[in-house]
Amino acid sequence: MVQVNGNYLKLKAGYLFPEIARRVKAFSEANPEAAIIRLGIGDVTEPLPEACRTAMKAAIDAMGTREGFHGYGPEQGYPWLREAIAAHDFQARGCDISAEEIFVSDGSKCDSSNILDILGEGNRIAVTDPVYPVYVDSNVMAGRTGEADASGQYGGLTYLPINAENGFTAQIPTEPVDLIYLCFPNNPTGAVASRAQLEAWVDYARAHDALILFDAAYEAFIQDPSLPHSIYEIEGARECAIEFRSFSKNAGFTGTRCALTVVPRGLKGTAANGEKVELWALWNRRQSTKFNGVSYIVQRGAEAVYSPEGQAQVKALIGFYMENAAIIRRELSAAGLQVYGGEQAPYVWLRTPQGLDSWGFFDHLLGRAHVVGTPGSGFGAAGEGYFRLSAFNSRANVEEAMRRIRAL
Ligand code: MLT
Repeated sequence: MVQVNGNYLKLKAGYLFPEIARRVKAFSEANPEAAIIRLGIGDVTEPLPEACRTAMKAAIDAMGTREGFHGYGPEQGYPWLREAIAAHDFQARGCDISAEEIFVSDGSKCDSSNILDILGEGNRIAVTDPVYPVYVDSNVMAGRTGEADASGQYGGLTYLPINAENGFTAQIPTEPVDLIYLCFPNNPTGAVASRAQLEAWVDYARAHDALILFDAAYEAFIQDPSLPHSIYEIEGARECAIEFRSFSKNAGFTGTRCALTVVPRGLKGTAANGEKVELWALWNRRQSTKFNGVSYIVQRGAEAVYSPEGQAQVKALIGFYMENAAIIRRELSAAGLQVYGGEQAPYVWLRTPQGLDSWGFFDHLLGRAHVVGTPGSGFGAAGEGYFRLSAFNSRANVEEAMRRIRAL
């Protein structure tokens, strides 16, 4: 009989967001009259920017002609999109990143999991706690962890707690690790890293020959102009970091699918025989073997993000969601809740009211206010006692959700 990947059997429960969807579905079936407002999963709600839609429509029309038809594209992405990304997202911010170091893909979630394909099994891995669950679960699936303990933490992983006491910034580990997952602006806490904090991580990684996997999916939400958007704004990061970026949250591509991963040339890991191997070459090999690229139409849509109209429309979208975040922060504070984040990120992180744990508060909000959020404990043991609300929704829904929570 065929054998299954036993690592999957180590996974604690369902993936967080499907588990929330399951509970909400059950509640809504039992209470069909309840008008549920979803501030749980960080999924965008506002229409795609016009510049992107116009570019995609033109691409569809081109596909209807013999001259403009596109079959398989380059697995790494079309050169014109890679050039635009390198120029606008990196070189314009002083980062020494070239187009060939940009790999266009269909999502940061996929890339942050798939990257394990090119990394060895013996790496000592550090994650923050709480953390975006994909980093942990993909390591479990790939057999890079031991079993979970009663608190849900997996053997073999180094957990770096982030909480109100340390300003939601993980301390540099005292033990040596080889692989470090960082996400700034942070999902789920909404915290952001200062330049000095990122410098400390880059210094650590260079001193220990470690690799930083830097998830910058929410960089566009940074409001403070002094804060870095990319790990490559830090000197030396080319030697120790891979960065993930996405069009999902800035340009509303969650359902359209386009993202990118930056793997600098010259960034190396070690083979079992001690030989130094370039990660770019391995990722290029991986992508050209297992991936056929993002559709031409979608890449044309992503390219339009960098046009002057696209830039203005994306800015307006971000401004809209950040105004939602400000409303959530203001109303929850007025309701007496302790709130964090939501100033440089589309997530507001709050302490659950006394007497309620994370899932208890989830049930309370769903049952009494018909508002869905995300329990902090779903992001890790140290998220217990916290709760996440997403700013991705219409203004009317955010205002109504806050009115209901205040009434509670
Ligand atoms: C979240 O709610 O944390 C997001 O949906 C994560 C993601 O983009 O996968």
